[in-house]
Amino acid sequence: MISPKKYAKAAKIPPKGFKTTNEFFDHVFKDKEIIWMGQNTNHLYEDTPIRDAMINCINSKEYCKYPPPEGFPELKQLILEDLGLKGFDILITAGGTESLHLCMNDVLEPENSVITCDPGYLIIDNFASRFSDNVISVPIYNEDCGYKLTPKLVKEYMDENTKLISLIDPLNPLGSSYTKEEMEEFAKIAIENDIYLLHDITYREFAREHHLAANFAPNHTITIYSFSKIFGMAGLRIGAIIGIPEIIKSVRSILINDLGTNVISQAGAIAALKSKNQWIDHIKNTTRNNQKIIKDAVDQVEGAFIPVYPSDGNMLAIDLKGTGIDPQDMTDYMLEQNVFIRQGSYTSKLYGDRYIRLSFSVPEEHVKIFAEKFLEAVDVLRPI
Ligand SMILES: Cc1ncc(COP(=O)(O)O)c(C=O)c1O
Repeated sequence: MISPKKYAKAAKIPPKGFKTTNEFFDHVFKDKEIIWMGQNTNHLYEDTPIRDAMINCINSKEYCKYPPPEGFPELKQLILEDLGLKGFDILITAGGTESLHLCMNDVLEPENSVITCDPGYLIIDNFASRFSDNVISVPIYNEDCGYKLTPKLVKEYMDENTKLISLIDPLNPLGSSYTKEEMEEFAKIAIENDIYLLHDITYREFAREHHLAANFAPNHTITIYSFSKIFGMAGLRIGAIIGIPEIIKSVRSILINDLGTNVISQAGAIAALKSKNQWIDHIKNTTRNNQKIIKDAVDQVEGAFIPVYPSDGNMLAIDLKGTGIDPQDMTDYMLEQNVFIRQGSYTSKLYGDRYIRLSFSVPEEHVKIFAEKFLEAVDVLRPI
């Protein structure tokens, strides 16, 4: 028998009434009525350029050919232009997830240590633990550090084996993000110690301001790019990994997706970048306004608070500790009301009993329903 590998596990606990996480996702995916605030996907895109480009690609039947293995040059160029990066190389991948795995595989040896944070996107810890024996997940759920991994914390937790610092910016699940000064400090740490910054910019476009580590430490940064969030293309599974040519050259030696990334997704991604200016303000304005609706509801609940407000992502956390309500019970209750949100343990090993996470890049009516049901849930679930 082959035993499962003993890597750090992402908390994939099936919700009440489901045998597996997959069964649960199949159920929610197929339920057309469900309000989708449990994944940080974006349901607000209404214009047609992305869809039209993909439909044209299907009609042309070009999908019977393999694409260029590293991605269409037009798409590669559009992403680098989108970020304003010059002198970098890029590979198109089947999403930020694949890019994260490539990054860990490329940079790490077993003796190296990696710094991540808790709360955070736990698959990063999981991937890191496949290549490094020492993944240090720094506790950041407190006001003192602004609910984020700071340069000060990194210095505290670093040692001579540290090889990679993971910066999710803005941070899933809290929505905290970095200032220019903080990015400069991280860059200094990376350059002085000759170590790497993994800069996961999946939620970049939702942030009020954003600073690319690649601009401050080009030789020591690997940037993870995704089309799943602002572009609303999560199901199309497309993203990129970006670094200086020497870094990307080494990533080429560990590629899995040797025959390239979905042609239809790439057609959509090209249209997405070309049409971005036409629709992005609508999405940003709607998400910002949606946050206010959530905040108004939370402010009515004694003992509840939003740790990071406003969030610079399209998600935020609501701390329920002071209400005595278990986040799992809240999540189960809301699902019964057809509102899909996440219990804290999905993004934290240390603070999962404190918060729920919800995404708000959904129509305003959905957020209003959430707000109403949330207040109702507090009344029902609050211990007497
Ligand atoms: C921080 C972070 N990186 C990467 C991803 C995954 O991106 P993709 O859908 O492009 O694989 C997510 C998804 O939620 C995320 O939160």
